[in-house]
Amino acid sequence: MENHNKVLMLMVCTFFFFSMPTYSIQNTLTSNQFIQYNDTLVSAAGTFEAGFFNFGDPQQYFGIWYNSISPRTYVWVANRNTPAQNSTVMMKLTDQGSLVILDGSKGIIWNSDSSRIGVEPVVQLLDSGNLVVKDANNTQNFLWESFDYPGDTLLAGMKLKSNSVTGPYRYLTSWRSPEDPATGEYSYRIDMHGYPQLVTEKGSRILYRGGSWNGILFTGVPWQRLYRIYNFSAVITDKEFSYQYENLDNSIITRVVLDQNGITQRLTWSDRTQIWEATSTRPADECDVYALCGINSNCNVTDFPNCKCLEGFVPKFQTKWKSSNWTDGCVRKTDLNCSHGDGFLKYTSMKLPDTSSSWFNKSLSLEKCKTMCLKNCSCTAYANLDIRNNGSGCLLWFDNIVDMRNFPDQGQDIYIRLSSSELVYTSDPKKNKRNSKHAGIIAGVIALIIGLTLIVMVTLAYRKKLGCIRNLFQKKDMEDGDSATIFDFSTITSATNHFSNRNKLGEGGFGPVYKGITVDGQEIAVKRLSKTSIQGIEEFKNEVKLMATLQHRNLVKLLGCSIRQDEKLLIYEFMPNRSLDYFIFDTIRSKLLDWTKRLEIIDGIARGLLYLHQDSRLRIIHRDLKTSNILLDIDMIPKISDFGLARSFMGDQAEANTNRVMGTYGYMPPEYAVHGSFSIKSDVFSFGVVVLEIISGKKNSGFCDPRRRLNLLGNAWRLWIEERPEELIADILYDEAICSEILRFIHVGLLCVQQLPEDRPNMSSVVLMLKGEKLLPKPSEPGFYAGKNNMNSAGSSINEATISLLEAR
Ligand SMILES: *[C@@H]1O[C@H](CO)[C@@H](O)[C@H](O)[C@H]1NC(C)=O
Ligand SMILES: *[C@@H]1O[C@H](CO)[C@@H](O)[C@H](O)[C@H]1NC(C)=O
Ligand SMILES: *[C@@H]1O[C@H](CO)[C@@H](O)[C@H](O)[C@H]1NC(C)=O
Ligand SMILES: *[C@@H]1O[C@H](CO)[C@@H](O)[C@H](O)[C@H]1NC(C)=O
Ligand SMILES: *[C@@H]1O[C@H](CO)[C@@H](O)[C@H](O)[C@H]1NC(C)=O
Ligand SMILES: *[C@@H]1O[C@H](CO)[C@@H](O)[C@H](O)[C@H]1NC(C)=O
Ligand SMILES: *[C@@H]1O[C@H](CO)[C@@H](O)[C@H](O)[C@H]1NC(C)=O
Ligand SMILES: *[C@@H]1O[C@H](CO)[C@@H](O)[C@H](O)[C@H]1NC(C)=O
Ligand SMILES: *[C@@H]1O[C@H](CO)[C@@H](O)[C@H](O)[C@H]1NC(C)=O
Ligand SMILES: *[C@@H]1O[C@H](CO)[C@@H](O)[C@H](O)[C@H]1NC(C)=O
Repeated sequence: MENHNKVLMLMVCTFFFFSMPTYSIQNTLTSNQFIQYNDTLVSAAGTFEAGFFNFGDPQQYFGIWYNSISPRTYVWVANRNTPAQNSTVMMKLTDQGSLVILDGSKGIIWNSDSSRIGVEPVVQLLDSGNLVVKDANNTQNFLWESFDYPGDTLLAGMKLKSNSVTGPYRYLTSWRSPEDPATGEYSYRIDMHGYPQLVTEKGSRILYRGGSWNGILFTGVPWQRLYRIYNFSAVITDKEFSYQYENLDNSIITRVVLDQNGITQRLTWSDRTQIWEATSTRPADECDVYALCGINSNCNVTDFPNCKCLEGFVPKFQTKWKSSNWTDGCVRKTDLNCSHGDGFLKYTSMKLPDTSSSWFNKSLSLEKCKTMCLKNCSCTAYANLDIRNNGSGCLLWFDNIVDMRNFPDQGQDIYIRLSSSELVYTSDPKKNKRNSKHAGIIAGVIALIIGLTLIVMVTLAYRKKLGCIRNLFQKKDMEDGDSATIFDFSTITSATNHFSNRNKLGEGGFGPVYKGITVDGQEIAVKRLSKTSIQGIEEFKNEVKLMATLQHRNLVKLLGCSIRQDEKLLIYEFMPNRSLDYFIFDTIRSKLLDWTKRLEIIDGIARGLLYLHQDSRLRIIHRDLKTSNILLDIDMIPKISDFGLARSFMGDQAEANTNRVMGTYGYMPPEYAVHGSFSIKSDVFSFGVVVLEIISGKKNSGFCDPRRRLNLLGNAWRLWIEERPEELIADILYDEAICSEILRFIHVGLLCVQQLPEDRPNMSSVVLMLKGEKLLPKPSEPGFYAGKNNMNSAGSSINEATISLLEAR
């Protein structure tokens, strides 16, 4: 009888698909088997895992990620634009070999649309990260494969493809945000106008080019560093272009990803630092910005200004050009003669210009190529197509030269057409120099200033967050010329009016925080770590490293960092509404936060913390959660900040000890303040204090009941056991209608601040408890309850700053 019930239940649970549910670990699924919310497929060698996932919201996606890398890194998402609305969801393989995702109402929300029908189809997750559908007896011929539908990530073996008639059909598209895999606005693809080239586009506008294929790699990619590690290959036919890379060293885990800001990076996993390190980034510098210098010019990062007209060309509008507006580019000094008398000037080590108006022939020699160019009046340049074997093939450009730059060491030779009179002039360097010497000095000074400004602007536009991290962590490993810190120290100095007192937002434990406005008008918050600060270089690195890998709506966003000698700066997004303490402890401003807002704030903090503890897969303990570390954005959405003390945990290591007890009195749990032992439950304690402070409008550390010498926790506890907890609620919040809800929050707050860490709920329970979806147990006495056994003077301390106690050994 009981067995019968079980079977019945199973049938109910499995949506009446009469088959057995699957469980990890397996890598293959046959037709009519399915994967639901909790199941995963793991590839044979355990490299990749596939299954449903979410970002802390009810919405569910089916995707593929690295099985053993944390934070979890997704490489592919099936239903990126059509998430399931709740966890009642499944993926199954139909008899014909189509993969479908069904939601709770059994509606198909995603379909692999496989046109090929299988006889005995199975779906398998391969160690390459490819999810394939094939016939059980046929190992090679796939009916469908996820590699044919790239998302934002290019894995080894995946192909970018374009057709000369229909255009790109396999290409990367960015996510909308780090937690929204929906198709974003950027794409990374092969442009088939003229000779094929790799481009990143926003909509249909080119942002930057990887360049055209030179036989080894795309001309704008620093291939010399990479081609021993990866085998890049392209198949070029009249109709098609197909590009891929293979990993020659299997110990390297690598991927190319197009992020939501349109930045492309090759990232490799570092076991040593446990982060993804960028081995190449595009745009790498300002000269990578498409057509920065306008037409018929050249961009050189080592020159100021970066833009120069090609030899024999002059700015179209002199004054505009001199004021660094290069958009109109340059025009010829002397028109081409066309019929005869034209020649070419050779440029070496260049990234070849935009090939969208070009022509090519693989078998023509360079000499023939030149002849071809001279024959056509609109041909303006020629170069070899393939750089292997001293060069071969012919590439011709027509009309204007666009987006050319110096590319030291690995660039190519290109020959630019000039009228013979210009050639005579430019080939006489002495005459050239004498003419321009004097003006050159003055122009140089002006140009230097303009150039610096531009660099700042462009650098800010592309916040190369990872570049800074690279600097911090692997200076030694880096190659010359790669040392670009994102935020130039002097930029920040001027953005903050030289750290003037007027710009000061507040003083954190580790040093003052300033408001800054960058040249492009972006508001930033700059944390300046004082030289005497107890936040040493270790804490600084820690904060940068953690923040760079964390992304959540309720965590403050790190824009970058800057170091000069012993000056260390962290640059964050600016939060116009300051921090929570600014509101809740002020009699006037506290009126601006009604209960609905406060509830949302508490909920937001809980979600941020849950993400840190659990969903980020890094298991991070913040260790210094307090109202002044909870910043509020323009919509009063809370953002947890100040990660200087945060610690990341590997695996299941649930608690640790430290000799340096750091944190803030009033928010520290007893086991940490007294024994230096900390765990995720330390944060839960701090969270409980914050909740009670938000509800009462009183500071735990500052609150003092003169008669009983109780702190806020003690007072809350006393009111709780005397069954009049509503007296804790701040007067301005009190309202019969919502009283029971507030009481639930007090109850949860008290559960969080219990004396013993093991009694405190974890954050996932807290989130459910706050929603009223989980039964609340009876709380026991809070830690640091100064009522009877006054453990410590902490309760009466009014020191708000983060402190450091060096525990006696
Ligand atoms: C997923 O697993 C968890 C714990 O293993 C269980 O509590 C939960 O009910 C499962 N959810 C589904 C949808 O199967
Ligand atoms: C889950 O979503 C489906 C479709 O959106 C809906 O029909 C179903 O009722 C939902 N289930 C729950 C438990 O909310
Ligand atoms: C697949 O192979 C098995 C065993 O070799 C055989 O029994 C089965 O008929 C084959 N299926 C098909 C569709 O060829
Ligand atoms: C690189 O790939 C090409 C084409 O796929 C292949 O012919 C060649 O042998 C590969 N080279 C190496 C070193 O693996
Ligand atoms: C441009 O850059 C290269 C190398 O980066 C350098 O050698 C050269 O002098 C620079 N200036 C010009 C005008 O080419
Ligand atoms: C540069 O000139 C172009 C074209 O005249 C104009 O649209 C653009 O706004 C100018 N840029 C700046 C920064 O002034
Ligand atoms: C082109 O060059 C030839 C020979 O140098 C000369 O006779 C002719 O006038 C030139 N034509 C133009 C339009 O400059
Ligand atoms: C390329 O040049 C070769 C040699 O001159 C010629 O045979 C061939 O037709 C040309 N191909 C194209 C596409 O023009
Ligand atoms: C020169 O090349 C352009 C672009 O390929 C072409 O449209 C034009 O017909 C050519 N002119 C001559 C005279 O060959
Ligand atoms: C390339 O050019 C150099 C110098 O001209 C020559 O020694 C070498 O043999 C050439 N290599 C090939 C593959 O043609």
